[in-house]
Order: sequence, then C-alpha cells, then structure tokens
Amino acid sequence: MCGIVGYVGSEQAAPILVDGLRRLEYRGYDSAGVAVREPNGIQIVRAVGKLRNLEKALEDKHLDGSVGIGHTRWATHGRPSKVNAHPHVAGPIAVVHNGIIENHLELRAELEAEGVQITSDTDTEIVSHLIHREVTAGHDLVTAVRRALEHVDGAYAIAVLSETDQERIIVAKSSSPLVLGVSEGASYCASDIPALLPYTNEMVFLEDGEVAVLEAGGFSISTLAGDPIHREAQKISWSPVMAEKAGYKHFMLKEIFEQPRALEDTLRGRLDRENADVSSSEIGLTEDDAKSIRRVILLACGTSHHATIAGKYWLEELARMPAITELASEFRGRDAVVGEGDLVIAVSQSGETIDTLMAAKEAKERGAKVLAIANVNGSAIPRMADASFYTHAGPEIGVASTKCFMAQLANLLMFSIWLGRRRGALSEGEAGELVEGLARIPHLIDERLKSTHETVAELARHYSGARDVLFLGRGLSYPMALEGALKLKEISYVHAEGYAAGEMKHGPIALLDAEVPVLVLAPQDRHYERVCSNLQEARAREAKIIGITTAGDLRAQSLCDAFVEVSPTVEALSPFVTVVPLQLYAYCVADHKGTDVDQPRNLAKTVTVE
Ligand code: F6R
Repeated sequence: MCGIVGYVGSEQAAPILVDGLRRLEYRGYDSAGVAVREPNGIQIVRAVGKLRNLEKALEDKHLDGSVGIGHTRWATHGRPSKVNAHPHVAGPIAVVHNGIIENHLELRAELEAEGVQITSDTDTEIVSHLIHREVTAGHDLVTAVRRALEHVDGAYAIAVLSETDQERIIVAKSSSPLVLGVSEGASYCASDIPALLPYTNEMVFLEDGEVAVLEAGGFSISTLAGDPIHREAQKISWSPVMAEKAGYKHFMLKEIFEQPRALEDTLRGRLDRENADVSSSEIGLTEDDAKSIRRVILLACGTSHHATIAGKYWLEELARMPAITELASEFRGRDAVVGEGDLVIAVSQSGETIDTLMAAKEAKERGAKVLAIANVNGSAIPRMADASFYTHAGPEIGVASTKCFMAQLANLLMFSIWLGRRRGALSEGEAGELVEGLARIPHLIDERLKSTHETVAELARHYSGARDVLFLGRGLSYPMALEGALKLKEISYVHAEGYAAGEMKHGPIALLDAEVPVLVLAPQDRHYERVCSNLQEARAREAKIIGITTAGDLRAQSLCDAFVEVSPTVEALSPFVTVVPLQLYAYCVADHKGTDVDQPRNLAKTVTVE
C-alpha cells in the first residue's frame, strides 16, 4: 500500500507532489512527506496523520525546487510517527518506497555492523542506506540503485533523489505498482494513474525488474541489469474530472451514484443484443478456449471475492460449468489442486492486490489459464494473465469499493452468458432475456437511487446506534448479504455479519434480540418463501427486520419493521439492484456517525502487502 509520487520539470515541485499525494491518499494515510531538491541541498518535510498535516507543515516551511518526491504511508514496519514517515534519508540520498522489504532485518544487521546509524523502524530506510553505500563506493546514482536492489528481497516501488546527482529521479519496481507520466518539459511517477491525471494522460507502466530515469526532457527505462528498454507512452482515457468529488460529500457517495454510468460503460459494445450473446472479441478468450475449460476457479479478496461468489452461481446455472471460489490469500501456498483445463478468473478492482496476483501466478505456473477481470488498465494482474476482460467503472477513490463491485458483477455475468452459449447450456431465448435485462439494469438502478438514498438515510439515523447488525440472503442474495456486512463494518466500524439465511439457525440466531437490526434480502426469486420463513424466525426473537423487497411486495413488507423497495428483475439479475440499498445503508450509518467515509481507519485501497 502507501502512495509514492515524483516530479521533475520547471514548476515548483511541492504543490504538484502534494496534489498527487491527495489523489493517492486512499492508499494509506497515517503519515506523509515530501523531499524537494533545493539549490543548497534536499529539504524534507514530514508530518504524522492525514495529508492536511503535511500541508500545514509546508505552510511554515516553503520548499523551493522543481524536482521532488513524495509519499503517503500505510504503516507496515514501524508505527505511524514522524521518524518513520518517508522520505528516508542517508547522506545525500532521499527515498520513498511502497512495498515490503522481506530481508530488512538481515540487511539492517549488516549495515549496523558496518557502523551505519539507522534512525527509524522502517524497511525503507535500509534501502536508502544501501544506495548511499554504493554511491560512497564511487558508483553513479543509477548504478548505485541497481546494485543496492540486488541485495533486496521483497516488493518495492521506489523513487530516489540525490543532492549530489543531476536534476533527476531514479525509480525502480518489483511487485508494487508504478506508473510514469510525461508531458512537455516534465516527467512524473506515481503509484496510480489518478495522481497524474491533472498533468498528463500520456503514461507508461513500469514492469517488475525495471529501473527508469526521469528528467525534465523525458525518461529512459532499463532492466536491473542495465539493458535498455524502449517503451512508448500510452494515452489513458480517464479524465481528471472522473477523479473529483463533483459536489458529493464523499467519493463513496459519488461512486454509488455513478453506478448506472459505470455499468453502462462496462456493458458498452459487449452485449450482442441481435444474437442474444456477448461479444467474443471483448472476453479475451477464443471459442476453442471455451471448449477446453473443465473447471473455473475464481480468485479474489474482500469485496471482489463477494462478486466471485455471484460469479460461481452464474457459471453453474447459466453455463453448467463447475466453478469454485477461493480467497486468494488462502489459495496461495497450500498446494491446491489446479492445472491444465482449469480457467482461473482473477478478479481485482486495482489489478494489484498482491494475494490475488501471486495466487494467479501460482495457478498459471501449474498450467491453468488465467483470465483477469480488473478495472485498472495495464495493472499487474492483467499483465500477468493470459487474457483480460476489463471493467470500465472509471477511477474508484473511496476505499470501500462500490461501483467497481457492480462492474465486476457485470463482467462475471457477461462471461457466464458467453460461456453458457458456447457450451450449449443456455438457449437463445434464455440468453436473450438476460442480455435484454442486463441492458436495462443501469436505468433500473438510476430511477430509484435518489428515493432509496432518502429512505435509507432515515433508516440509518434510526438504527445507527446498533452494536451488531446481521445481513441475510439466499442464493444470489447471499454474496450481497456478505457485501452489505463488509461495507458496514469497514466504514462505520459497526460489527456486522453476512450470513446465508438458511444458516442463521445454525449459530447466529443466538445473537438476536430487540437491539439487533437484521437486513433481509427478500427479492421474489425461487428462495422467497424460505427467506420469508427465516425472516419470521428472526422476528420471533424480537430482532428489528429491515427488508430489501421487490417493489409492491406487500406480503414481505408486512413482515418487516421497515423496508426498502428495489425494482423487479429477472432472477439472475437481482444482485445488481439489491446491493445498492446495502451500500447506501453503510454509507448513511457511517456519515451519521461522522467517520472518515472515504478513508476508514486501518484500511487502504490497494493492498500490496500479504
Ligand atoms: C472493500 C474493498 C476490499 C477490496 C479488496 C480487494 O470495500 O474494497 O475488500 O475488495 O482489498 O481489492 P481489489 O479488488 O483491488 O483486488
């Protein structure tokens, strides 16, 4: 996690660095710092806490220079403190780092034995001393960085500045993300695209094992061994406005309201309504691939994992394809059975989650084919995959994922329809109904968003004091219940559990009393009758029932203390509409409690540590 940024050009560097850090703050926000190369040496300003503390510190200390690096931190090694905040300095060298140096203890002992004074608890400071050691031995900065990194095991994206070198920044990467940007007379680097969007949309993705030199006049890339690499910049289609709040109180609320647009963009050009199908050219796999798949393994973490559970249900039902879901962190290193004939679908908003990346790599090494579903073009998971089927939700800034989840659902459903058609499991009529229904979903969500927000805000005010909340659903509503509970937990810090409604009586029913709100997803699908029974079981324990019901379903509504209506859909499409009130519920409870909705405590948007 953590965000890094760098600038070389002719403008004042500090405001550009701080602006970039603001756009990266979702990656970590327990301390921040910048280093700027001034005529008389490198000046560093660091502050604990949110970026505004760094901005305050910069009001007192003006930095004057047009080359600099910056960092926003999510603590791994060493608690959040000024001394542990980046940039870290050794002699004339300043370094910012995202990732984890696995052998840092060993390297620390080695450096200390050589008499080096290490002042922080971080693994990053070790890197700055390693580079300094090489510079002291007479190597130029680029060679020093290369030689220093030979000693390092682990994940890193680093940016290095030296007061004795020319006006340039050296960057390198292994496993952690790093994108370079170029514009007339300036070069940039950042952990993620949105940090650079106000300055350029000409970007280059650095690959693992590469080093780049950024100068005002451009950049050059080489391998760690020093072999030059030619790579053209590519145009990124995201606009800076897409990464702004546009008048909403929080990014999360904006992103919930953007879901119809995110879905439309994700579906665009992919639904073949004439042939009741999904366009093959968009999926990334061939017709032959479709025939050779014997099993699908869906790998993901967190919210993306919840999307994959819906994906499994769709693949089984619509394509008659055996499918299993795996938490990527549990799949890794346990010697899971995977190999030829398996299609691994790695689902990740960021495309950088280390557990998903490494689990997919492991599966690929054992002979599985890997299809990536990711939202960030050119990110690590699509780059390692055999094929990619991107979601087009636009940049997601709120740490709690909403619109990307919605887009992941769309891609997983489209893939299931595509596979179902190729395997003869889905008739033209059935596929047609799904394709037409899916095309209407953005409108169905859009027409209810405002009124749902109002209803849910009222409910959230009423129930925001609850200590525990239960979310129940069956079938496709089960992963939505899991997602509703995760959203509430992460941004409002309320204890919440998502459960398969049928499992309630096997344990969680013991939690129920008059103080516990239970959100029951009760769309009118094949599980409806049984869900209504579960709802009554909870009611009999005096729990307060909030139903997510189909519009006009008076029967279910009469069993609830309160209800939210969703539009009727074909059964397979219900997750798209039922999850929206749950996202809004979490948002409204958090907003009512006054938590930091977009940057909840202890979390980070992109999880690049294991
Ligand atoms: C929760 C959330 C996380 C992510 C998880 C995986 O709202 O966003 O649970 O879903 O960290 O991230 P990606 O999808 O980037 O792999």
